[in-house]
Amino acid sequence: MADVNRRWLLAARPQGMVKDSDFRLVTEPVPEPAPGEFLVSQTHLSFDPTQRGWISMDSYLPAVKIGDVVRAGGVGQVVKSNHPGFKVGQMVQGGFGWQDYMVTAGQTEFMPVTPLFPGVTPEQALGVFGITGLTAWFGLTDVGKPKAGDTVVVSGAAGATGSVVVQVAKALGCRVIGIAGGPEKCRWVVETAGADACIDYKNEAVPARLKELAPKGIDVVFENVGGEILEASMLNLALKARIVLCGGISGYNDEGPPTGIRTYMMLTIQRARMEGFIVLDYAPRYGEGVQGLSKLMAEGKLKTAEDVQHGFENIPATLRRLFEGKNFGKQLLKITDPPLPVV
Ligand SMILES: NC(=O)c1ccc[n+]([C@@H]2O[C@H](COP(=O)([O-])OP(=O)(O)OC[C@H]3O[C@@H](n4cnc5c(N)ncnc54)[C@H](OP(=O)(O)O)[C@@H]3O)[C@@H](O)[C@H]2O)c1
Repeated sequence: MADVNRRWLLAARPQGMVKDSDFRLVTEPVPEPAPGEFLVSQTHLSFDPTQRGWISMDSYLPAVKIGDVVRAGGVGQVVKSNHPGFKVGQMVQGGFGWQDYMVTAGQTEFMPVTPLFPGVTPEQALGVFGITGLTAWFGLTDVGKPKAGDTVVVSGAAGATGSVVVQVAKALGCRVIGIAGGPEKCRWVVETAGADACIDYKNEAVPARLKELAPKGIDVVFENVGGEILEASMLNLALKARIVLCGGISGYNDEGPPTGIRTYMMLTIQRARMEGFIVLDYAPRYGEGVQGLSKLMAEGKLKTAEDVQHGFENIPATLRRLFEGKNFGKQLLKITDPPLPVV
């Protein structure tokens, strides 16, 4: 077990792509839990595009303050406990941030600390059964509401969220078209995730390919990317289409005023609806999502990919991977093995 607490603090608000110099690595003593608290030694960190927003500005959560530890979800092990609900050796997840250790009474800034379900790995807890898997589940089933036979288009289809959306939509009997960057990702989206087709937006003309692949129009768009990719889907909507506005990663590093959606009148013409959502609002229903996803996995209908980086010093570079399209599936970084026997 490390005898110091390494922490990455926010040093500057990023301009464009995040740089190492936007963060500052410090070393502090390991904190001691007070009565009613416990100490978590973090083993795995989750990387999420929304972190780029969290370190830039107030949004659905307040911006991380300059000098504070960078906000992030993670998995860790309870290594000291003065809390009756948490045992030493237990694996837990919560919002532990970019640091080795965290003392908590059970509620981190944006999520409660919860034990890992038996048999669930840290990679699964942060991926398919974590924020990204649940985003896919609730965004598709609750906001998109696809019916069997619908044509569903998923951008960011090889990513953590998109790859689960593809497979849930297939399990619901939809025809699924993925959009992803590069032939290798597209091959995975079709051959492993089971999409009917995948458009390589880096090498193909997306609007033309969507017209070919969805001649009767798109019923549900699950949007992770935004910008021109969203506009291309909007130009090919079916009547009464639903656009699930999950994210718009293509614009997260932009400076200056955001650009508009040039195709917005297609919502009127096609009597369509575009709706955003934030997965944290579904917290009271997470159990339902985990149950649905576990069932699909048990039936062999849900394959996952995790991209696990290593090295505490590589944490800022690992965040960049999401914006460089380097990640394949859920982006994680393993800090250490659990220091104690797992109970
Ligand atoms: N609403 C919510 O509650 C919620 C919750 C979680 C996530 N999200 C959103 O869901 C989306 C996916 O998140 P994730 O965690 O699953 O990440 P991810 O898809 O695993 O990783 C990000 C992917 O985005 C693609 N990308 C990056 N820059 C791009 C650009 N300029 N143009 C096109 N594609 C680009 C890359 O894939 P390619 O190589 O294919 O380009 C990259 O691998 C994000 O927009 C995120 O903000 C929303």
